[in-house]
Amino acid sequence: MIVRIGFIGAGGIAQDHIRVLKKMEDVKIVSVFDVNADNARRTSEATGALVMDSADQVLDKQRIDLVFICTPQFARGELEVVAASRGIPFFVEKPLGVSAEAVRQKAKIIRETGIIHAVGYVLRYYDTVRQAKQYLEGRRPHLIQGTRFGGSHPAKWWKQLEMSGGHLVDTATHQVDMIRYVAGGINKVQAAFGRVSFDRTEPESTIPDAGTINFFMDSGAVGSLTESCLSPFHASSEIKLFGPDFFVHLSHNGSHLTIIDNERNLTVTAELDPGYAQCRALIDAVKSGNQALILCDYDDALKTLEVTLAANRSSEERTGIVL
Ligand SMILES: NC(=O)c1ccc[n+]([C@@H]2O[C@H](COP(=O)([O-])OP(=O)(O)OC[C@H]3O[C@@H](n4cnc5c(N)ncnc54)[C@H](O)[C@@H]3O)[C@@H](O)[C@H]2O)c1
Repeated sequence: MIVRIGFIGAGGIAQDHIRVLKKMEDVKIVSVFDVNADNARRTSEATGALVMDSADQVLDKQRIDLVFICTPQFARGELEVVAASRGIPFFVEKPLGVSAEAVRQKAKIIRETGIIHAVGYVLRYYDTVRQAKQYLEGRRPHLIQGTRFGGSHPAKWWKQLEMSGGHLVDTATHQVDMIRYVAGGINKVQAAFGRVSFDRTEPESTIPDAGTINFFMDSGAVGSLTESCLSPFHASSEIKLFGPDFFVHLSHNGSHLTIIDNERNLTVTAELDPGYAQCRALIDAVKSGNQALILCDYDDALKTLEVTLAANRSSEERTGIVL
């Protein structure tokens, strides 16, 4: 079976997916829509996909087996729900949106359709992250520390809080998700976000330039995540998990794993390209009808979104938020 794919949104991340999909022989990208006609045209030239006049046309005009929804989180509308309701499996990028309530409503409908789908928490597909998750099964860290420092996304939408949600909701969401994936749920957050430098360097932006979030885990563990998208001289992203008789460190976005305990002191680097593994799992799921191949579904991604949006609210209201 050749899986026929449509793309809605053909910006930066869509091109990453297309590069990977083009390596697969059982895949054909057949249609694309983007409000930016140049991006749609370039994608069409690179793949042979037909350029459509609307997102609806991608879903309707010719048969597709899978749609990639790669528009920014403020510009998804009801696309996932429309695809699911028409029986079209979908991939949607993280984060799921900028309103938890709107996403919750979509989640309910998607769940009821039982459609095959995936959300782009791509770091879950690192073999190192899987290894950390397996190691932590049956072990309980008491402290978790995460960080993410780096630069900003170049697009204008990204620096508007109501469009992106900010660096935590859009980007450091990967670290929140990794913490949840390897160590379980988060049920309370207290956050502080600031804008010391952006007021001067990016006066038209509305996102914070730094933040720190304290949280409680369902396991009883406590943790923190510190992040900034204004760190020109230092970029890193990692999580550290401390137990009474072990230490687990996922660094370089999860591609490096160190485990230290009384029996081992090992460091491994990822052998898998998580972007490839993510697309491969999805294509195989579409072909076999087996959702279990997919490591992050809509309901799971909603929980990560809820943590990050609660952090935004916590800082705004200067109070802790129970999830
Ligand atoms: N999983 C990851 O690691 C990862 C990495 C980067 C981006 N992302 C996510 O992917 C999404 C897109 O990010 P990006 O970096 O590609 O952004 P981008 O700005 O590079 O591209 C977005 C594209 O969507 C198009 N678009 C906007 N509104 C549209 C609409 N209503 N209909 C059709 N097309 C529309 C734009 O014209 C643009 O081509 C965001 O949600 C982002 O958080 C995920």
